Amino acid sequence: MAFAGKVSLVTGGARGIGKAVSKRCHDLGADVAIFGRNIEAAQAFAAELGASGSRAKAYGCDVTDGKRLDAAIEEVLKDFGKIDVLVNNAGITQDGLLMRMTDEAWLKVLDTNLTGVFRTMRAVSRPMLKARSGAIVNIGSVVGLIGNAGQANYCAAKAGLIGLTQSAAREFGPRGVRVNAVAPGLIETDMTSAMTEDQKKQLTGSLPLGRAGKPEDVASAVCFLAGEDSAYITGQVLVVDGGMVM
Ligand code: NAI
Repeated sequence: MAFAGKVSLVTGGARGIGKAVSKRCHDLGADVAIFGRNIEAAQAFAAELGASGSRAKAYGCDVTDGKRLDAAIEEVLKDFGKIDVLVNNAGITQDGLLMRMTDEAWLKVLDTNLTGVFRTMRAVSRPMLKARSGAIVNIGSVVGLIGNAGQANYCAAKAGLIGLTQSAAREFGPRGVRVNAVAPGLIETDMTSAMTEDQKKQLTGSLPLGRAGKPEDVASAVCFLAGEDSAYITGQVLVVDGGMVM
């Protein structure tokens, strides 16, 4: 129960990687605030989690809506009294070749995957810095390190997230708040379900570990960076990709 007495907030926390992170935080003893666009799904998951062990509560929140985000974070502080762990997981793809990419597709992905993370960090940093304690983990991607054809918007957002993570680590470190990122490779979730089996096989066949990752593989890395076992680690990007990028 390494997270007993802690409060974790996970954006996009009711599906895919975010769901696995919420569950692991909860399994480790944390109270969990689950932010989701689909409030019914988030509530159902929170009820499932909260049925045993520590508390779990869902909040309807789209990270592109700054006002709602600030209000939802206030609600969490009112409900739970503090936020010890923030996991910025919410993210989308809107793929297309750069030559044909619309401003809308570019801005939507940047707004969700990068500005949404900035907004959430800005709001949560106040209580964390005041408490002189906390850990933030941002979910990046290996393609933020190496780029990917057809994902200029997504890769730019995920690369930007690394600079954001490192800058916040420098600003917040002296006040006891650590900020790190996890960069997953190919993980089996709704986000990657559009890939054909052949495409997946081609990709995973060349991986040293020979398989796609599971949301739980990412969740354990996130919880390592969110917990006391990583007390002397900040500003880092932990790659969780079966050896894809090295
Ligand atoms: P997913 O599509 O299953 O889940 C994404 C979650 O983010 C959903 O809960 C969705 O509702 C939420 N979300 C999206 N836009 C939102 C918004 N504006 N406000 C609030 N919530 C929003 O995808 P997955 O795979 O679980 O992705 C989670 C994170 O992991 C994302 O940041 C993604 O970029 C990243 N990632 C995923 C990889 C993969 O292979 N699945 C690889 C590398 C990174």
